[in-house]
Amino acid sequence: MILFPRFHLMEIEDQSWCPNWLRESSHSSLAQMWKTQSSKKGSPASQACDIIFENMDDVANFTFIDACAGAGGPTPLLEARLNQILRSQGKAPAPFILTDLYPDLNAWKSIVKKSENISYIEKPIDATKARRLAAPGRKECRTFNLCFHHFDDPAAKAVLRSAVQEADAFVIFEMTQRNFMALMNTSIVILSPLITTLIFFWNSPIHLFFTYLIPLVPLFYAVDGYVSCIRTRTPKETRDLLWSQPDLDLSEWEFKSGERMVLPPFGNLYWYMGVKKEKKIA
Ligand SMILES: C[S@@+](CC[C@H](N)C(=O)[O-])C[C@H]1O[C@@H](n2cnc3c(N)ncnc32)[C@H](O)[C@@H]1O
Repeated sequence: MILFPRFHLMEIEDQSWCPNWLRESSHSSLAQMWKTQSSKKGSPASQACDIIFENMDDVANFTFIDACAGAGGPTPLLEARLNQILRSQGKAPAPFILTDLYPDLNAWKSIVKKSENISYIEKPIDATKARRLAAPGRKECRTFNLCFHHFDDPAAKAVLRSAVQEADAFVIFEMTQRNFMALMNTSIVILSPLITTLIFFWNSPIHLFFTYLIPLVPLFYAVDGYVSCIRTRTPKETRDLLWSQPDLDLSEWEFKSGERMVLPPFGNLYWYMGVKKEKKIA
């Protein structure tokens, strides 16, 4: 049940004055969240992969663009699982490309070292006006992981418009929503780095100091976590952004949405997907 209307409040990490180390620390926590396994069904990242396979045909022919990759988010695990499944079906692996308006090259360099199917674009790419990146003959799927709520309505419309005009599919994954479950899950995600740090306290006192003894940091996690919930759209609100653009041709597109419990007891993954029904070869 949606508890309140959406407000596009300010997240600290979107501000130009937010120090890079703070932004990167938040993105590392999110990457960690994607890997966390609290059910037999696997991590949120691997369950995101299952959602893709269940709702998209022709997965092997796609190039996946992580359009707001941060520190990599789910992509390393998602790629590993998706390509493991494709190989087991006798198909060639699908390429993944990391992009972001603020590329985290240090994190990405270490990711691409571990997978030959992941690459990155070094220059900043703005998802509101991104050009097609898939090689000729391949289809392009843009993934928006925990980032779509960062866009205000005009920017979100532009992101969707660019995806519809330049790509063949897109998937929005969010772990936040304006409901009780998401607010509870966000509270756990905010506290979990503290718990993790305390577990490793004796091995890493410097980490503890920089992460938690500066009072700004937990405040930052809390503000951005709850503001993310307040800014997240329902499937209907996302659909309205698409259909409020009368000059956007959606006739060949199919849209689906859903939610799945990926991080019990409260962590639902909310997804919205658009897939072009006919093949578009560049
Ligand atoms: C909350 S982080 C999510 C990171 C990652 N996708 C994850 O799941 O952990 C949001 C990301 O969106 C990126 N971003 C914000 N506005 C953007 C834009 N206009 N174009 C591309 N990336 C953008 C930010 O730089 C940041 O890395």
